[in-house]
Amino acid sequence: TQSVGLVGWRGMVGSVLMQRMRDENDFSLFQPVFFSTSNAGGKAPAWADGAGPLQNAYDIETLKKLPIIVTAQGGDYTSEVYPKLRAAGWDGVWIDAASTLRMKDDAIIVLDPVNRAVIDAALQRGVKNFVGGNCTVSCMLMGLAGLFNNDLVDWMTSMTYQAASGGGAQHMRELLTQFGIINQSVKSLLDDPASAILEIDRGVLQTQKDADLPRDHFGVPLAGSLIPWIDKDLGNGVSREEWKAEAETNKILGRGEAFGTEPTRIDGLCVRIGAMRCHSQALTLHLKRDVPLDEITDIIREGSKWAKVIPNEREATMQGLTPVAVTGTLDIPVGRLRKMSMGPQYLSAFTVGDQLLWGAAEPLRRMLRITLG
Ligand code: HSE
Repeated sequence: TQSVGLVGWRGMVGSVLMQRMRDENDFSLFQPVFFSTSNAGGKAPAWADGAGPLQNAYDIETLKKLPIIVTAQGGDYTSEVYPKLRAAGWDGVWIDAASTLRMKDDAIIVLDPVNRAVIDAALQRGVKNFVGGNCTVSCMLMGLAGLFNNDLVDWMTSMTYQAASGGGAQHMRELLTQFGIINQSVKSLLDDPASAILEIDRGVLQTQKDADLPRDHFGVPLAGSLIPWIDKDLGNGVSREEWKAEAETNKILGRGEAFGTEPTRIDGLCVRIGAMRCHSQALTLHLKRDVPLDEITDIIREGSKWAKVIPNEREATMQGLTPVAVTGTLDIPVGRLRKMSMGPQYLSAFTVGDQLLWGAAEPLRRMLRITLG
């Protein structure tokens, strides 16, 4: 059996990845070598029977011995270690969750239920770098694969509702801390059914604006608010998160200038909200032709095993199309499907996905299986 180096297995994405790999018995297929950036020589996780001590994740000579390395350690680690490893002549397969290498010509964005053909062609050409996509893009494509792969999408706008986990574990903690402090600040009023709601509201706002409310990670209060900007300011009115939608979707599908075809235009606004780990998106699609809604439903259902069409009705939507309903599952529900008042080629949709599963861990473990053959 081959050896596989695992880096960043202890963080949030890494922990979800390890759990999924254990659930699917992936560890029976290879010999894991666990790396650490801080605890070389320490013990491998107790559940990994027979794995040796932790190796130094910055030691190029040790990394070089492995035919496959999977990392969820983050972009800084990739920037520092990956170039040195290739410069040292390493020819192995690099499977990475970070965005650092995503748009490089010699890297493929992996989402095999959607782009297995692109992945297989790349393996044939000897491509060695396989990178997970942006969480929002991956979750959207897992829902709408059918429409894209049937070439029905002329253009699309995506308005997102992105969870705290997209920022990282510390962001999730900060959100909950904010919620707690805000609740505490008005608790006595809340407990008194006779208190005035506008007084409670004033108390909430005062706490949200209080300079002592923890906000190091988000920069501003998120609890009871929202932040309509995610990732860097590209200087042209577009956030980096918004830029990814069109750039990555086309790259995943093997379309656009790099492939000598017209890219599908995708644009929208990305918004951080106070959900924990599911990203949601409100989509407007302009279809290339007027396809009846029942056909659209079938196409979405057949697009991937995980896409679940939610009937466009109040109760079904409230029960099935929320972050709470989806968290911890691989389902990608797609609902609110209807033709819009602008005309029969305009389709609305709403989708929700666990950004730690399809948005991060799942495409990587599946790519590892593809690599192992
Ligand atoms: N950029 C995403 C977010 C994280 O901030 O929600 C995962 O790609």
